[in-house]
Amino acid sequence: DVRNVLSEQQRQRHKIVLVPTMGNLHEGHLELVRKAKSLGTCSIVSIFVNPLQFSETEDIDIYPRTFREDQQKLIEEGVDYLFIPDDDEMYQGRSRSQTQVLVPDLSQILCGKSRPTHFQGVTTVVIKLINIIEPHIIVFGEKDFQQLILIKQMVSDLNIPVSVVSGYIVREQDGLALSSRNRYLSKQERTKAPALYETLCWVKSRLETGEMCYETIEEQASERLIKNTFKPDYLSIRDADTLSLPDTQTKDLVVIAAAYLGDARLIDNLRV
Ligand code: PAF
Repeated sequence: DVRNVLSEQQRQRHKIVLVPTMGNLHEGHLELVRKAKSLGTCSIVSIFVNPLQFSETEDIDIYPRTFREDQQKLIEEGVDYLFIPDDDEMYQGRSRSQTQVLVPDLSQILCGKSRPTHFQGVTTVVIKLINIIEPHIIVFGEKDFQQLILIKQMVSDLNIPVSVVSGYIVREQDGLALSSRNRYLSKQERTKAPALYETLCWVKSRLETGEMCYETIEEQASERLIKNTFKPDYLSIRDADTLSLPDTQTKDLVVIAAAYLGDARLIDNLRV
């Protein structure tokens, strides 16, 4: 059905740009939508809360579903198409896809250590969305930086004919990156939350002075987070192109972190 709907667009050589989402749209998503509109002539947003990327301990049922509000926001942005499949349409009535796509090493580091099956669920659903919609361009947010690098790797490894484009992180005035998880923060936690971004900025400033003892900087940064009542999952300085450990020659770095504040697991990153 999707291909039928889009066949006319394909025939007229429209440039189709896809923004895949799980809904509960905020200004960060809307920036990606604006980017999509600026890059192509036919924009499509998918909303699918993908069961495959949630583990058994992560409760998919409490994931916020705000379809009416999302639809309204997308209409206001002037999106051309909205694709909202259900679980049965995506996984043919099974709880999981029989075939899955795995980017082995990248999916097991950083966030993959505490969420070992997560990225396999992401790559599998993204390749399905690409095959269904056949976009020329697909847009992802830089906030999920590991996800972005993984998708780029998958697209390159499997010669998928799509360009991966990224959109910048949208932040609150105090620096907190927008995320649907921010709603889990209590009032008091919300006042502490900007410390994650502040810590990334602190690391960036240390690196910009030419300091190269990455492990020491990482340890000190984690201590700063702990002082601000965070429980860091990881805070790491990595090669921004590959997410591998950098050496002294690496030019493009990313400081990437995940940390719990109460029940909320916040992630953020900063390029250096
Ligand atoms: O970033 C997300 O919202 C999801 O991981 C994605 C890319 C839509 C796949 O379900």
